[in-house]
Amino acid sequence: MSQYKKNISNQEKLESPIDFRSDTVTLPSHEMLASIDNTKLGDDVYEEDIEVIELQEYAANLLGKEASLFFPSGTQSNLTAMLAHCQRGDEVLIGRHYHTNVYEARGVSVLGGVGICPIDTSASGSMKVSDMLSQIKDNDPSLCCNKTSLFREHFFWKSSASTGA
Ligand SMILES: Cc1ncc(COP(=O)(O)O)c(C=O)c1O
Repeated sequence: MSQYKKNISNQEKLESPIDFRSDTVTLPSHEMLASIDNTKLGDDVYEEDIEVIELQEYAANLLGKEASLFFPSGTQSNLTAMLAHCQRGDEVLIGRHYHTNVYEARGVSVLGGVGICPIDTSASGSMKVSDMLSQIKDNDPSLCCNKTSLFREHFFWKSSASTGA
């Protein structure tokens, strides 16, 4: 069953607290919808999308980074991060109940040839260091994987669907 299926009305969604998992979970407020009328639009490739550029600069400054990149979806940004850090034949350690392991259709394996190694997660989403270390394989491509990376999900929500409960 989908984790999104909560049978709540759009009005209830609008009144509930902001939930940053997805723009499909928290709907835009009336003010946000009204501001769409005045939004400056443009092609991002030609660097004409002024508001996206401003948002990226704001996020980079906020986090003290050289630059930032806006992604319209969490699944897309998770996949891009893993593909940027991993090569074909690498392995990535991911919390067993993380969204990346349960809901993202193994995109990193399908598109990037990267193996997923699920690690047990606590109710708050943490993983034991000993569990992670025990899954780092020898760096021998003829036997196992080239390199092991760790994927950490900051936002963790263990749904009844993902636990099978
Ligand atoms: C932790 C986490 N990551 C990623 C996503 C996916 O976000 P999107 O629907 O924008 O692809 C979700 C959606 O619920 C999520 O909970």
